[in-house]
Amino acid sequence: MRQCSIEQLTEEMVLGKSIYAKDGTLLLGAGYRLQAAYIRRLKLTGYPFVYIMEEGTEDVIPEDIISDQIRMQTSAEVSKTLEDVKRTTGIGRLRREDVRRILEDEQRLKQVVLTPNLKVCVGNIIEQIIASKKNILDTAFMKCQGDFAIQHAIDVALLTIVLARKYHYNKDDLMTAGLGALLHDIGKIAVAESAEGGARKRSAEEQDLLLEHPTFGYLMLSKIPGVSLVVAHIAYQHHERQDGAGYPRGLTGDNSPPIEAISRASKILRHAELVAVADAYDNLTSDTPDSRAISPEETMKRLIEDAGSKLNRDIIAMASQVIPVYPVGAVVKVVECRDRTLIGCVGVVAALQEESLNTPEVILLFDRFGRRLKPRRIALSEEKTMRIELVLSDSSLVHG
Ligand SMILES: [Fe+2]
Ligand SMILES: [Fe+2]
Repeated sequence: MRQCSIEQLTEEMVLGKSIYAKDGTLLLGAGYRLQAAYIRRLKLTGYPFVYIMEEGTEDVIPEDIISDQIRMQTSAEVSKTLEDVKRTTGIGRLRREDVRRILEDEQRLKQVVLTPNLKVCVGNIIEQIIASKKNILDTAFMKCQGDFAIQHAIDVALLTIVLARKYHYNKDDLMTAGLGALLHDIGKIAVAESAEGGARKRSAEEQDLLLEHPTFGYLMLSKIPGVSLVVAHIAYQHHERQDGAGYPRGLTGDNSPPIEAISRASKILRHAELVAVADAYDNLTSDTPDSRAISPEETMKRLIEDAGSKLNRDIIAMASQVIPVYPVGAVVKVVECRDRTLIGCVGVVAALQEESLNTPEVILLFDRFGRRLKPRRIALSEEKTMRIELVLSDSSLVHG
């Protein structure tokens, strides 16, 4: 199968992966042959792309690192937690002073019961990641608009856990980092929801309030029974930067690997440094109220620019080993090759090698004029003169 942008869907295409609505219900199952009415419905979901079956790519199977079921369960539990905090505190659309007063009301926050299922979900995610035995996130995240906060929480948790595993975190630390990642932006519920939906730009006052979300998150989490103080500190510190230019406290880091043996007295907590990288990656690759999503390739370039000054250099280097620039199923074009007849050919990323993420195997499907080729599989690790580029809008995939 391959990725296909929603705009390029046509009737008779067959879905490669199931599509879920934002409440987690199944919208269309894998294997469904698309009809006009469903294409219109899919456009409303806000998914940037879906996976479709494509002749010659039958063995290309992008696998999410966790099952759809765990993703849906986690999404429901995060949503329940956010609703519970909102209901108990009455928070949301308030002035800064009011928010602070509520968050300093220890008794009120103590009534919030963090659903035990949330920890079960993090545990399940960790088990699946460990069982999958792969240390890479080789599918592009599919986000639909409207519930960005929840999908963001889950995707930041996944990347955080994958990174933490590379640093050999033990199970307890994986749990703490995963839960902290899942709840890192919980303080945003104190910010007007309308400003988070992506529908409009935030007002100056809302922007100001947004900068307080790490502090709000800390105030909430540090008082909710059953949440460790480290989890609260992950929320507090995820916007701190290595050079001290972050917020809210201007803590600094020293770019050292986030391992326990290294003392970080008065520095950014190591779990928070991991979450900061996962958060930055996910923000850049998603449509947010402030910016449009950019490609994984562009994202890695931006992160490398920020390595050392803003984000922990060691973690960015590790991230480039777990996030492929060319995810399985992505449509790519040959831009350079010794065999000049291949330049301009379009194909699909078929497989990745963990040791050399940037040189995947591709299957070329169309020539430069959009005419179908006999599928041709090429490993970039062997064809060293070949350079490919992601085709973000697959309009160049003309079915001939
Ligand atoms: Fe944040
Ligand atoms: Fe975030």
